[in-house]
Amino acid sequence: MAPHALADETGPATATGTAQQVSCALTQDLTLLGGGGPQPPVATPRFIYGTAWKGDRTADLVYQALKCGFRGIDTANQPGSYHEHLAGDGVRRAVAEGIVTRESLYLQTKFTYTADGPHHADRGPQEPAAPLEEQIQTSVARSLEDLATIPSSSSAAPYLDCLVLHTPFRTTEETMRYWRAIETYVPHQIRHLGIANAQSGIVEQILYDEAVRFPPSVVQNSFTRKTDFDTNLRHLCRQRGIVFQTFWTLTANARLVGSRLIEDVAICTGTSREVAFYALVLGLGARPSSTALRARCTCARTSRVSGRSNIGRTARGGTHGRLI
Ligand SMILES: NC(=O)c1ccc[n+]([C@@H]2O[C@H](COP(=O)([O-])OP(=O)(O)OC[C@H]3O[C@@H](n4cnc5c(N)ncnc54)[C@H](OP(=O)(O)O)[C@@H]3O)[C@@H](O)[C@H]2O)c1
Repeated sequence: MAPHALADETGPATATGTAQQVSCALTQDLTLLGGGGPQPPVATPRFIYGTAWKGDRTADLVYQALKCGFRGIDTANQPGSYHEHLAGDGVRRAVAEGIVTRESLYLQTKFTYTADGPHHADRGPQEPAAPLEEQIQTSVARSLEDLATIPSSSSAAPYLDCLVLHTPFRTTEETMRYWRAIETYVPHQIRHLGIANAQSGIVEQILYDEAVRFPPSVVQNSFTRKTDFDTNLRHLCRQRGIVFQTFWTLTANARLVGSRLIEDVAICTGTSREVAFYALVLGLGARPSSTALRARCTCARTSRVSGRSNIGRTARGGTHGRLI
């Protein structure tokens, strides 16, 4: 990560180094190798900036996030909740100002399928009556255009670091048909594939299908007690080198965030409950996506907390051991 990005977030030196050094550790790259196939390695940061529900502020917030030190951006080709082209505007501004290069970023977007009518808010640019393969082509082309930036090498074509299927289809057959179609864009236009809102059954189905050449590199699910925090799926992901990203990390866990345990962690580390909770989720090996740029930079503050070695001990000693 570019050190200048956190120049005003360095904070006091701690036993584990300055906040800036710890921030660098937080955004340390995790390389997705892509199962030894022809996919180029891609680095995913541990903490990603999510752009849902940011409306007209999306471009400015993405720019601010990159300036703060975030290097991963999550968006979707789903106008009801995301403004993908504005996310691209924020990235282009940061690239143009020399804050980041395209190659130093992890840009992730989603293919959203809906069979509903043309005015449905969740519908992307594709025509719902068109064959699925054609819908995918339209959606991918729009995402590449929305997120296109000037790479350092002028000959390099735009690419997406990861394209996530927003939700599995109603049937396994449809999901597998989607997977066969989307694989044809890997590795040149899309480096890696992912799936969101997925149960372990469909992830295993894709993983163990012998015809699949590019299994998911990313699973993005809500982090909630209702799904037992996806304990088994997270285990599977760890075993298979899949990055498990969380959303609703704060929204779905108001009681935990408000708990005594999190209060203790926040007090011990001199930060907010929200940052303390993100840091604990990071400690599980999951990758939360944050929406807020409160307190100047959640990224730097979370890194400060997750860099302190007593956090894991505090969590394990608490009453919410099952989270670990
Ligand atoms: N695949 C999917 O189906 C799916 C679904 C939902 C979300 N996502 C992705 O996940 C991203 C994260 O969204 P989320 O709703 O899941 O986030 P979240 O972790 O549940 O946090 C969201 C809420 O917490 C607040 N917040 C965040 N950081 C904070 C801090 N440091 N201090 C105080 N409040 C804080 C936010 O405030 P603000 O209102 O100020 O931002 C917002 O109200 C989305 O942007 C999107 O990219 C994906």
